[in-house]
Amino acid sequence: MPNPPLTLAAVGCGSRVQVYSALAAAMPEHYRVVAAADPIPARLERVRQLSKNPALRTFAGDRELFAAGKLAEVLMIGTQDPDHVAPCIAAMELGYDVLLEKPISTNFHEVQRLEAAAARLGRRVLICHVLRYTGFYSRIKELLEAGVIGTVATLNATEGVGLFHQAHSFVRGHWAVTERCSPMIISKCCHDLDIISWLVDAPCETVASFGSLAHFNAAHAPPGAPARCTDGCPVAATCPYDAHRYLGDQRAWLRWVFDRYDTATDDEIKAWLTASQWGRCVYRCDNTAVDRQTVNLEFTNRVAATFTMTAFSEGRDLEIRGTRGVLQAGDAVKRLTGHDIAITPHDTRQTVWHDVVTREGEFNGHWGGDAGLMERLHLELQLPNPADMRSSLQRSVESHAIGFAAEESRLSGQTVRLDDFRRRHA
Ligand SMILES: NC(=O)c1ccc[n+]([C@@H]2O[C@H](COP(=O)([O-])OP(=O)(O)OC[C@H]3O[C@@H](n4cnc5c(N)ncnc54)[C@H](O)[C@@H]3O)[C@@H](O)[C@H]2O)c1
Repeated sequence: MPNPPLTLAAVGCGSRVQVYSALAAAMPEHYRVVAAADPIPARLERVRQLSKNPALRTFAGDRELFAAGKLAEVLMIGTQDPDHVAPCIAAMELGYDVLLEKPISTNFHEVQRLEAAAARLGRRVLICHVLRYTGFYSRIKELLEAGVIGTVATLNATEGVGLFHQAHSFVRGHWAVTERCSPMIISKCCHDLDIISWLVDAPCETVASFGSLAHFNAAHAPPGAPARCTDGCPVAATCPYDAHRYLGDQRAWLRWVFDRYDTATDDEIKAWLTASQWGRCVYRCDNTAVDRQTVNLEFTNRVAATFTMTAFSEGRDLEIRGTRGVLQAGDAVKRLTGHDIAITPHDTRQTVWHDVVTREGEFNGHWGGDAGLMERLHLELQLPNPADMRSSLQRSVESHAIGFAAEESRLSGQTVRLDDFRRRHA
């Protein structure tokens, strides 16, 4: 007898929960979304449609949903960064297992508090570190485990956020003011640090980090640029960040922040831009998120790694050097060769290419990670040991420690030892 579908409820019906609800509806043999909470009625309606469940029970907020008792087996939490820990603990106390959006919290003390609560309550928490569920990183993990480059010695990873993505999310958008959400190295790069931690497969010992917000500030505002692009900017035609691009080649971003993205006319979108935070000049915002940052890491297995986050390129790149060969992979390799992963053994120097089959639309879903996560979720929840889930809370705490320690290092100018960092934030 096949298992009955896992029942899902949701708190915070913004862009992430909408993605997971649509994916769940596409796998009716595994999932049924039965309840959702959000103060914005249009988002509840959107989840009702996407989940294909006309009988979806809806609530005006997390408290109202919790007051109704346990409504499903798993709760998806997709509220903003500062609102993850409290609903997660409330849900576990009611008996839910939880699918929790990253970051776990905006500070490391709370991350550890949540880990302790999950242990005390005996509940499972899967963190949406979706890159772990992509074919691309899964293949790299397999290749490393098969020893194709011998013992890993060094790893260099880069994340190019991209000009318009940086502007949309980290200058104008939800994660622009670090003090209200999480530092960039967590809000954007916890995925990358998590992948590095997974591939290196050992605890991190020491972290040092450098970086700043040096470009997206008033000092770089073009002469005569007004506070909003919609106020008539003299350099609009050549500015890569001109908000009018939301009406053209950057329209796809609207989906994540404008509820009527698919029905509004251009005039309605223009009117929205005149008042919305996404219509502001990128050089005249209240942003504090860095636009460049590097992290140096040393692991207990003596792997030395570097990570670079930059607003000024697009895509993820990876180079791993081992005792028997070199692995190169990511967007630059793909752009230059058409292949995903290159393995060059030291002895033959003959590169072997590995390609990952991607399904249509995968890039939009974090290279297939969103779908990959939902495909695995019901299986992960059956693993005997919750810590063994591929992106378990326990595993994610490790990569969050690296990120928060990196931010401490960037701000203090000091190298941070992870064991000391954990103790200080316990
Ligand atoms: N895994 C990933 O790759 C990934 C990608 C983007 C964002 N995120 C993370 O996912 C989270 C959600 O991001 P998003 O872009 O979907 O945010 P969003 O702003 O689109 O959605 C958040 C929703 O929470 C709702 N909300 C606020 N208070 C609530 C309450 N008390 N009860 C119920 N709902 C409430 C808001 O009305 C909103 O609809 C963030 O923490 C973000 O950092 C993860």
